[in-house]
Amino acid sequence: MLLPASSTAAVETTDLAKSYPRVEALRGLSLRIEPGEIFALLGPNGAGKTTWISIVCGLVRPTAGRAEVLGHDVVRDSLAARRQVGLVPQEVNFDPFFTPREVLRFQMGYYGVPPDDARIDEVLAALDLSSKADTNTRALSGGMKRRLLIAKALVPRPRVVFLDEPTAGVDVALRHDLWSYVRTLRAGGTTIVLTTHYLEEAEALADRVAVIDKGTLVGMDTPAALLRRFGRKQVRFKLDAPWSGGADALPPQLKLLGATLDATSETVICPVDATPIAELLALAALLSPAVVDVAIVQPTLEDVFLQLTGRPDAAASLQRAKA
Ligand SMILES: Nc1ncnc2c1ncn2[C@@H]1O[C@H](COP(=O)(O)OP(=O)(O)O)[C@@H](O)[C@H]1O
Ligand SMILES: [Mg+2]
Repeated sequence: MLLPASSTAAVETTDLAKSYPRVEALRGLSLRIEPGEIFALLGPNGAGKTTWISIVCGLVRPTAGRAEVLGHDVVRDSLAARRQVGLVPQEVNFDPFFTPREVLRFQMGYYGVPPDDARIDEVLAALDLSSKADTNTRALSGGMKRRLLIAKALVPRPRVVFLDEPTAGVDVALRHDLWSYVRTLRAGGTTIVLTTHYLEEAEALADRVAVIDKGTLVGMDTPAALLRRFGRKQVRFKLDAPWSGGADALPPQLKLLGATLDATSETVICPVDATPIAELLALAALLSPAVVDVAIVQPTLEDVFLQLTGRPDAAASLQRAKA
């Protein structure tokens, strides 16, 4: 069958598995990432995110399954596959005795790209590192080192860029700079795959999100669709005084709709789901003590994550970015 050229995925893994002596890091992960997407891999520590990225970038050999980058098999056609990818690792990994300019020049060499100072200057400027171009990297601040990691990944103009927890331990200002840089890159046609602990990061940036847990895919969709399907919108009624008698004593009609009390017993929480808001408001109007405030709380990806993994501890291990 003849397929159109656009059917080549940016990244496609099929039943990708990796076993270590003590742990199955990946248990058959199949993902397809389209060209031009910003795709987020979301999951708790140890879910297998770095393992998946490392295989796709040719740093780790899979135990089973296949991985392709723009149609190039990462094992059989590893050189061609590697030329397409830029990896921003979680850890700083350059030699402190070189300058940013040298780091970028070597990187172009590894990729077999002819030395190109204009390109190096362009990337340094884009990451706000021009003034440090010829300083030893050990003299850079933490934020500058992280930006240099990104510059290093980008300088050979990879078509697919992987960012492994790019904003872990990064301050809010730099996080927002990185987000806008990622958007600029995508506007230029680059495919972006990022892993993150930060649900807000996936929500803010990603076209699609794959939630993985224990080496297995547990959900994949656009953030909005995941929220619609698994996130529960709530309406919260604040009462004039605490409700006495506990949640069991709430009016039966509200209980039927899933109403509960918060820890202070001053707020009645009701999932909105399919119930019309007007109906909930009418029922709440009959409460005594009376309702003094109403808030509609939108679901977050954290709620989705909880539902998908069913593990409160997994969700707790995910930090919320205070953006
Ligand atoms: N080189 C390795 N040797 C043994 N176990 C490993 C190695 N790399 C990762 N693992 C294990 O594989 C699992 C997945 O790890 P990783 O891919 O780093 O997860 P994540 O990036 O989602 O936190 C973890 O249980 C981890 O301890
Ligand atoms: Mg990791």
